[in-house]
Amino acid sequence: MAAWLLLLPILSSLLPGGDGWHLPLASDPTLEAPAQFAMEVYNRGRHPGAAAVLQSVQGRSLKMAHGVLYSLEVTLHEPPCSPPTACKDPQSSGTLHCRFEVLDQMWAKQTLLKQDCGQPGAQHLPWSSGDQPPVPPSQGDSVQLITLFKDFLTTYNKSYANATETQRRLGIFAQNLELARQMQELDQGSAEYGVTKFSDLTEEEFRTFYLNPLLSSLPGQALRPAPPAKGPAPAAWDWRDHGAVTEVKNQGMCGSCWAFSVTGNVEGQWFLRHGTLLALSEQELVDCDTLDHACGGGLPSNAYTAIERLGGLETEKDYSYEGHKERCTFSPDKARAYINSSVDLSRDEEELAAWLAENGPISIALNAFGMQFYRRGVSHPFRPLCSPWFIDHAVLIVGYGNRLGLPFWAIKNSWGQDWGEEGYYYLYRGARACGVNAMASSAIVD
Ligand SMILES: *[C@@H]1O[C@H](CO)[C@@H](O)[C@H](O)[C@H]1NC(C)=O
Ligand SMILES: *[C@@H]1O[C@H](CO)[C@@H](O)[C@H](O)[C@H]1NC(C)=O
Ligand SMILES: *[C@@H]1O[C@H](CO)[C@@H](O)[C@H](O)[C@H]1NC(C)=O
Repeated sequence: MAAWLLLLPILSSLLPGGDGWHLPLASDPTLEAPAQFAMEVYNRGRHPGAAAVLQSVQGRSLKMAHGVLYSLEVTLHEPPCSPPTACKDPQSSGTLHCRFEVLDQMWAKQTLLKQDCGQPGAQHLPWSSGDQPPVPPSQGDSVQLITLFKDFLTTYNKSYANATETQRRLGIFAQNLELARQMQELDQGSAEYGVTKFSDLTEEEFRTFYLNPLLSSLPGQALRPAPPAKGPAPAAWDWRDHGAVTEVKNQGMCGSCWAFSVTGNVEGQWFLRHGTLLALSEQELVDCDTLDHACGGGLPSNAYTAIERLGGLETEKDYSYEGHKERCTFSPDKARAYINSSVDLSRDEEELAAWLAENGPISIALNAFGMQFYRRGVSHPFRPLCSPWFIDHAVLIVGYGNRLGLPFWAIKNSWGQDWGEEGYYYLYRGARACGVNAMASSAIVD
């Protein structure tokens, strides 16, 4: 039976009244904190005596995969304007009605996404004048949602154990669509966010299966700094055009990104030194690198040391990927590539580009906030949502360039070819976006 047939009973439950997203506005003590935050932003830059005062708040909240989205209707009192310049909008002193939308992220600061104020009774408020309400979705969206979910199940060949589970996944899918829409609205690049093969996972599941929140806190080996590049960076470079990059691989439900990042780098270094492109073994690192934590996470700097101590890497074919830790079966006579040392690279993106063009693909780690729902284009997440201090995913930079005026890094990921642009992520270059420059390193083959 096609998985989406399980949805038929759910479809009827989404018809009028049944979906729980059309909750009426309510007064609720949990709305106080986001309302105070919205007022704080609203009053920013004013003298304390000229600040507007919150009078009442109603609203609703939507629990999303990455936090809570509040839609608030606030009545506030604007003090008389003296001096008039102390008021944000001198014409609107007295009682105002405002609509605020506050996003409360688990790991980031609160963000005011929308602010619209007017005199009571005025018709310009977007949510009450027939515009699309940002939340909740309309009745028509529910049918559209089911269609999207069916497409998702077909595209990624997904199925669930039973109807209850299918319904639960549909709920998560809906929340994720909303989150992707918010990311889309806030993106400063050209990226498209939306349905991906991870659209049915909660934020917690996604983090647990695919990311390494510990990545930046693990004790790592201190690497010596690399000598700087000899010349300036060319305008663009891509190691895929020079045969130094293997096919995109798939780490599966295992936090082994660090191993993929490092084998990708060693594959490039070996190719540039010896002229042969070998697909090298991540499973060897998952099983045998005792400095790291297999599917529980690791650090590239540790993995280089492990490769040196073990005596090299076997090929993917000889020591193939299983996606969970097994007994170490590495044998030194099967090693087909070795490294002699490793280096830490510059935090300056221009210098990184120059080093990359001269020396090969670079292992990096970044904040993967923009990646769960990334589809294509140059991603440039709203900075407060993609903090450079929250590094949780290791990947491989293989090139850089400009796309319609947007400078980008071309980043090889390890989530299969059915994610992103054929497995690649394009991230804005030159603004330390998502901490892209925070942990760059490379193996050295003498
Ligand atoms: C789809 O998934 C089913 C069960 O999960 C599996 O048996 C089948 O081979 C998959 N088909 C494709 C095309 O991946
Ligand atoms: C449905 O599947 C979920 C996930 O596999 C399982 O936890 C749950 O017990 C199942 N429910 C029923 C009624 O079989
Ligand atoms: C690099 O490492 C390999 C393997 O461990 C070793 O055979 C080779 O001599 C080393 N090269 C240098 C220059 O030390």
